[in-house]
Amino acid sequence: MLSWAESVGEPDRVIDPGSGSGRFLLEAGRMFPRARLVAIERDPLAALTVRANLAVSGMADRAVVRVENFLASELGGFAGRTLFVGNPPYVRHHQVPAKWKAWLKTRAREVGLGASALAGLHVYFFLAIASRAREGDYGALVTASEWLDVNYGQLVRDLFLARLGGRAIHMIEPEAQPFPGAATTGAITTFTINEPPSTARFARVGELSRLGKLDGGRPVGRERLRTAWRWSHFSRTPVDIPRGYIELGELCRVHRGQSTGANRVWIAGEHSAGLPDDVLVPTVTRARELIRAGPVLDDAAPLRRVIDLPDDLSGLDERTRATVERFLALAEQMGGRDCYTARQRSAWWSVRLRAPAPVLATYMARRPPAFVLNKVGARHLNIAHGLYPRGELASGVLAALVAYLRRSASTEGGRVYAGGLTKFEPREMERIPVPEPALLLEMAT
Ligand SMILES: C[S@@+](CC[C@H](N)C(=O)[O-])C[C@H]1O[C@@H](n2cnc3c(N)ncnc32)[C@H](O)[C@@H]1O
Repeated sequence: MLSWAESVGEPDRVIDPGSGSGRFLLEAGRMFPRARLVAIERDPLAALTVRANLAVSGMADRAVVRVENFLASELGGFAGRTLFVGNPPYVRHHQVPAKWKAWLKTRAREVGLGASALAGLHVYFFLAIASRAREGDYGALVTASEWLDVNYGQLVRDLFLARLGGRAIHMIEPEAQPFPGAATTGAITTFTINEPPSTARFARVGELSRLGKLDGGRPVGRERLRTAWRWSHFSRTPVDIPRGYIELGELCRVHRGQSTGANRVWIAGEHSAGLPDDVLVPTVTRARELIRAGPVLDDAAPLRRVIDLPDDLSGLDERTRATVERFLALAEQMGGRDCYTARQRSAWWSVRLRAPAPVLATYMARRPPAFVLNKVGARHLNIAHGLYPRGELASGVLAALVAYLRRSASTEGGRVYAGGLTKFEPREMERIPVPEPALLLEMAT
């Protein structure tokens, strides 16, 4: 927090509101050797400790310890720049006297804001700072993160976007123990008074060492912050779907191709000579067939044939039936009946290729998936995924979708296996962001 303060500039005065033993103030005194140091602490015993600490650190002559309620502290009459730094008390509303609840309402109203009687004491401290600090003052406070999401925190959120001049919020996971002994999520709020932000940075760390100088985080626009009911989720890395985009899965289901169980048996070859053409189905059986095809698969001739026999062979004419029986005897010898996949099928000989997918995609390679428009109605084995539109798409949308996916798909989002292979499961592919159909068509023209 003090490193952040140093990166903003040097203060003429440092105020530690609710200083306790003065942990923050002493560190600030070391970092800013010319600054006046002010500890404000209501508890006399704690005040005694900070006084002693300041004395042994050789800082007593530029320090003042005020034993008083920070909410009532007079902070004016100082010409220079003030840094507020510390860890305001976390006291629940039940322990806040009615007199101070009334103070909160009145003070908030004075700056045009509402306040809740359920607010914890740290909210009071934020308001006290925002309403007393002067332009150019700045600060970093660590509190529990609750105010980011609850109703009573609205006052702090409003202040953050206005007078307080919020810069960033760094959330700290409870495991990192921002407050030793308490399983609480912490939030460090940095601010520069009277500089209402157009964006504020949000970050989340699991280890204190990752806080750095509080200069990380992703920016979130003021409008989003103003209209959001809760803020803590802004600190999580979102899967960003830009405006006008949807997930591929909203347009198309993605299905892995069929597994034959034994390609040496079910991909046609010498062993299947004589089988009729209508059971020999042009099929994409190798990823490179899609990679080579370019954007459109428009020739089925080079594709291999998969033997796709019906469950029920009784409808075949006698000659065909005899050929099929001969083939099946051979297939059995080749192990086509015994493999796991065959045993799961209702008829072991029936591969049951899926319906042709209008778009095919590779999903496992050292390169991004290759998306191909399937003009020839080829089937696909499990080396490819098929994209099946969920509903009717306007003419040109699929070609535009393929063009878009070929331009933009990256290996991000898939899972990297040993050796650098990137694998996209169907559900992962469905999460790729793509433009909505209208935008796709616009992009294509
Ligand atoms: C969470 S502790 C922070 C202590 C210190 N900054 C630290 O990190 O060790 C809050 C301190 O605020 C003091 N305190 C509580 N209410 C106060 C008030 N209204 N005005 C001034 N100090 C207050 C408490 O006595 C306590 O020492």
